[in-house]
Amino acid sequence: MKGSEVKPLGNERISGRIIRHASEKSILFIFDTGSKRSSFDVCMAYDAGFDVVVLYENVTPEDAERLVQDALFSRGPRRSRFTSFFIGGKDLEKAEAVLEAIKNIKVPRLVSSIIIDPGGAYTTAAAMIAKTEHALLTSKLGRLENKRCILLGTGPVGRIAAVLLAKLGCKVTIASTNPNRLNGEEYIKEVADLLLKRYGVEIHGTYAPRHEEKTRLLREADVIFCVAAPGIQVIDESILEEIGNGKVMVDVNAVPPPGIEGIKPEDDMREIYPGVFGIGPITIGQLKCRLEMEILREAKETGEKIYDYKLCLEMARNLLRRPN
Ligand SMILES: NC(=O)c1ccc[n+]([C@@H]2O[C@H](COP(=O)([O-])OP(=O)(O)OC[C@H]3O[C@@H](n4cnc5c(N)ncnc54)[C@H](OP(=O)(O)O)[C@@H]3O)[C@@H](O)[C@H]2O)c1
Repeated sequence: MKGSEVKPLGNERISGRIIRHASEKSILFIFDTGSKRSSFDVCMAYDAGFDVVVLYENVTPEDAERLVQDALFSRGPRRSRFTSFFIGGKDLEKAEAVLEAIKNIKVPRLVSSIIIDPGGAYTTAAAMIAKTEHALLTSKLGRLENKRCILLGTGPVGRIAAVLLAKLGCKVTIASTNPNRLNGEEYIKEVADLLLKRYGVEIHGTYAPRHEEKTRLLREADVIFCVAAPGIQVIDESILEEIGNGKVMVDVNAVPPPGIEGIKPEDDMREIYPGVFGIGPITIGQLKCRLEMEILREAKETGEKIYDYKLCLEMARNLLRRPN
């Protein structure tokens, strides 16, 4: 584990002088369970107003426990609430293990906030679902919880979105369309089993790498979420031609080519094909960024919540009720 302070681009030099300067300064510790630093979360944290951001890599649950205790004890009752922890890294399981290790650390009169958002998946999935719910209602297409939903992609965003949708009461299928997967059938079964074991949700898993399999799958769906890796086109026009109408398609891939042929980044229920309405990645991304900013600002001020994927969805819904 290696930790380092990421300095703000201001005039003030804080390194090594936190105590002297920081009678009530806000500090965010980012625990990355991997080795790739996310400049995204660091920038968001400074823009949200944190005075200091300290980033640790390759953090294990044991490391996190010790780091949290040290931070809280050093800051005492007055300042602990201005001390927040952000669990990142790409791996959902590792991030959840870190949360488990630190969420029950209770030191009398010391409170702090914990944000968990591995690979941006919790804020992205929450923004995607809140936006889709809202779009369906405002377009008079009914409630999301009554829909048959399909997620194309089994990365962190696809998995957490599947969990949230299943908890809403949707009929959910998660699919790998990745032609490069070895043992695709086995892999997707493992994903569905893991989601059942870990989150208690029944999700159907399927492997659909070819045109005919994707088409068959999408014909049965009302709402389709394209959550595959950046720059991968999963649905092309020949598929759109064959799957029928009355569908909503959401794409979170902002790197060209789009995940769904013909969708534009800023689409917001534009008819991308006759009877098919699209929501694009910038529309989702804007809400995701507003949500992350809101979480960071609130955590910085109030210091006593755990911001997990469920709270992310609640907060994303609230943001949609408020003007920008
Ligand atoms: N708009 C926003 O604000 C925002 C924010 C965060 C993330 N994102 C985007 O959300 C998407 C999902 O993020 P993530 O972190 O969950 O993604 P990820 O882990 O990078 O990739 C998701 C899945 O894409 C699938 N994939 C890879 N190559 C493929 C291929 N050739 N054909 C079909 N599928 C392929 C993989 O296999 P399987 O299909 O077998 O799973 C992988 O699990 C990404 O495009 C990311 O850039 C957008």
